[in-house]
Amino acid sequence: MCGIVGYIGYNEAYPILIEGLKKLEYRGYDSAGIALFEKEKIDIIKTVGRLEKLEEIADGNSPSCQVGIGHTRWATHGRPSDENSHPHRGCNGDFAVVHNGIIENYQKLKDWLIKEGHVFSSETDTEVLPHLIEHFYQGELLTAVREAISRVEGSYAMAVMCFREPDKIVCIRKDSPLVIGIGKDEKYIASDIPALLAYTRDTYILDDGEIALVERNGVKVFNGNGEAINKEIFKVDWDQEAAEKGGFDHFMLKEIYEQPSAIKETLEGRIDLDKDEVKLKEISLTREEVQGLSKIIIVACGTAYHAGLVGKFALEKTTRVPVEVELASEYRYRNPIIEPGKNLVIVISQSGETADTLAALRISKNLGASILAVTNVIGSSVAREADSVFYTKAGPEIAVASTKAYITQLIAMYLIGLYLGQLRETMAPGEVKEILDGLRCVPNQVESILASVEEVEELARKISTRENMFFIGRGLDYAVAQEGSLKLKEISYIHAEAYAAGELKHGTLALVTEGVPVVAVVTQRHVYDKTLSNIKEVSARDAYVIALALKGDEEINKVADEVLYVPQNLDFLMPLLTVVPLQLLAYYAALIRDCDVDKPRNLAKSVTVE
Ligand code: F6R
Repeated sequence: MCGIVGYIGYNEAYPILIEGLKKLEYRGYDSAGIALFEKEKIDIIKTVGRLEKLEEIADGNSPSCQVGIGHTRWATHGRPSDENSHPHRGCNGDFAVVHNGIIENYQKLKDWLIKEGHVFSSETDTEVLPHLIEHFYQGELLTAVREAISRVEGSYAMAVMCFREPDKIVCIRKDSPLVIGIGKDEKYIASDIPALLAYTRDTYILDDGEIALVERNGVKVFNGNGEAINKEIFKVDWDQEAAEKGGFDHFMLKEIYEQPSAIKETLEGRIDLDKDEVKLKEISLTREEVQGLSKIIIVACGTAYHAGLVGKFALEKTTRVPVEVELASEYRYRNPIIEPGKNLVIVISQSGETADTLAALRISKNLGASILAVTNVIGSSVAREADSVFYTKAGPEIAVASTKAYITQLIAMYLIGLYLGQLRETMAPGEVKEILDGLRCVPNQVESILASVEEVEELARKISTRENMFFIGRGLDYAVAQEGSLKLKEISYIHAEAYAAGELKHGTLALVTEGVPVVAVVTQRHVYDKTLSNIKEVSARDAYVIALALKGDEEINKVADEVLYVPQNLDFLMPLLTVVPLQLLAYYAALIRDCDVDKPRNLAKSVTVE
């Protein structure tokens, strides 16, 4: 939530800041702003609205200078408005601050600062930061930021400029990501790696509590105790093209089409082809520890949670250990029951920065669980705090609606399940090979679904005028139905709900009336007849039934109004295929409804607030 950038060097700062912000717009896009040094003052240009609006105002009006900071906002405290946009400054205008996170004790600090004579001009929590820094400033920005931050409770990634020290930017992080890009005689600051890729691959990824003094010729990093530390350079191996649209109209569509290669990348190197075994060197649990597991808990939010729902099936089948799937925002405020040394907690997070998921990780770790993180972002907070990390290799995911990250999270669930199952010896002879053979077919099968999108587009047109829809399924089909429903509502704004097909008649059926679209996912052969009966129930109420079925299923034509076929694979692996048409359905419905596909209203990619 919110993206911050900074630049210090010998080139014009303005275009570099704007380009960086464009790469971070997925983190928030309700207002934007920049701060640049002028001869007499720090010049701040900011506005409510998208980045293009900032460019309209600032192009040609921004001072020529080589140091600056910028921000793209996702409002938490204070509605989107010009005044609430970042950067913020204190009373004397000497300091400019951009901030991502939440200052939890801001009201107390604000009251105190007002008593000290400070005058506030916004409703934001962030504005206390420049005022605090101004209050503590005695000629050294680094010291003033340290002093200020010692009073602050909450989360922050922050970059600060000071008019009296024009050749420095100070930045600091706690619970919100921050990366420094290292160029020759120039340095870059950003919330996320894609904003740096046009300039450098050499980065410092700041850890919680670290503060950095960034100058043209060097970066000094200090830990929370004020001691200078030698940060290792982290070399990024993503290329810039991977973070660009590459000819597609939207990042979401590009990312949907990248799924076959993302799946291959995630499988790559994790299967021993000679022995037909999964090898996950990244999992630190010993055979004995795996055999001693009494419970696995999967914790995540949103789409990642839906990947966890599939994970429950995958892990229970392969390990025969009971698996619970928890929403991180609920789990963290309960008093979860963990048996130290006997429970594995798997946190799934594309960004690795989701505040609730991170909090759930910490709670579980404190209670003695072993933590396995499944994340897409190398060096992210969950990756650094977990005991083991399974990296999904989806590449940068920019669209707010997650697609390729989800599918690689599913691959992670299957591989982790197989690996733990091998160690526990809970799988039948030949079962691992059968599943691996199935997994190896998936990239081509996804390609084949992507090769014929016209049917999905046509269906999207038909549903695009509706305001309510249902998704139903049983077992793994229900897990995918939940993801299909979320995808549709988040980008097309059509209200959609997913139900376990057998549950409909316990209440929801009352909402199924003539013409209401019902997407029925029906690939699980052991409950095929049951789901068919449920389809008949909604058909009898004149619902408009779109079935997602296995190629070759003729029976389904008799009960559904429309059928989308997907290639056959093991029932167990079908979520990897059924989710693709559902992603496309959401995409085209959003497009037809003229919605902003990559940046849906009110949402942001990385939810670093609770
Ligand atoms: C929906 C979506 C979100 C995320 C959720 C968790 O398309 O992307 O529901 O899945 O915000 O984010 P991560 O995976 O970064 O923890």
